[in-house]
This record gives sequence, C-alpha cells and structure tokens, in this order.
Amino acid sequence: MPYSLLYVSRTLLKFPAGTAEVEHIVAVSQARNAGLDVTGALIATPAYFAQVLEGPQPAVAELMRSIMRDPRHTEIEILTEGETPERRFASWSMAYSGYATYVDDYIEPFFASAAPAQAGRLRQRLIRLMLEFTRQDPGMKPEPTRL
Ligand SMILES: Cc1cc2nc3c(=O)[nH]c(=O)nc-3n(C[C@H](O)[C@H](O)[C@H](O)COP(=O)(O)O)c2cc1C
Repeated sequence: MPYSLLYVSRTLLKFPAGTAEVEHIVAVSQARNAGLDVTGALIATPAYFAQVLEGPQPAVAELMRSIMRDPRHTEIEILTEGETPERRFASWSMAYSGYATYVDDYIEPFFASAAPAQAGRLRQRLIRLMLEFTRQDPGMKPEPTRL
C-alpha cells in the first residue's frame, strides 16, 4: 500500500528572486521522485510551501530526510502521514500560487495553532486545493511570470 505524507513549511526564499530557486527544486524533484516512484504535489507561495509525497514508504522517508535538512525552508510541520489505499496524485506536479494571498490563507492556520477540532477540516481543504491545481494543469511546469 502506498505511503502518503503532507507537510507545510515556512519558505526562506525571497521573492521574486526565489523563483529561480523554486525552478531548481522542481527540476531536481522531477528527476529524483520519478526514479523513486514517488508522486505528489508542491505548492510554493511567497510565504510557505505545502507538499504531498506518496509512494513506497522507504522512498518517501528518504526524500523527507533530504527535504527536512534543506536550508531553503524552516518550521517544517508534518500534518499527516501513513498508508493510503490509493495515490491521489497520478504524477508529480507543482503549483505556484504566485502572489495569490488566498493560497496563503490555506496554509497559514497551521502556524497559528489552529484549534484541533479544525485541523482535519483545514487539512482536507488544503489537499482539495492541491488537487484542483493539479486538475487545472496536469503537467504543471514552473511559470515564473505567475510569481
Ligand atoms: C519545499 C521543498 C520541497 C522539495 N521537494 C523535493 C522533492 O519532492 N524531491 C526532491 O528530490 N527534492 C526536493 N527538494 C529538494 C531537496 O530538499 C534536496 O535539495 C534534493 O533532493 C537533494 O538532496 P540531497 O540534499 O539529500 O542531496 C525540496 C526542497 C524544498 C525546499
């Protein structure tokens, strides 16, 4: 059964200059994740990252070890992890939110000690947003103009 992990973090990249760095992350991730049979989605905003990784548990764990020591973000908070009956993201995809601050509203509550009663609903809302981004453009490539 595939393993799935969702985390959020605070970006240490400064935008718009950080665009090139995000592009580099995407290029590295596309190659490495495909090789590890890991799919998922990454959202980058000027303030936060949110990412879903899904695939064989050892592969997800290996990627997470790299991601957690990456100095381009901080306050990495794993929101959920565990086995999942099926993958939600068919391929690895990437969504930029640019300066659409409404996307930050989906992530910010996790850093504002959200009431536990709300946490599940907020997680589902974030994953739905990531799925919507994926559906809008299944082969999402970095679009610097949107940052
Ligand atoms: C928010 C964020 C998400 C990342 N996601 C991935 C990813 O999905 N796959 C990947 O190979 N690297 C990803 N990276 C880059 C890794 O942290 C790391 O730089 C890269 O995998 C090289 O690994 P190494 O430092 O262990 O050699 C991400 C980095 C950041 C800041």
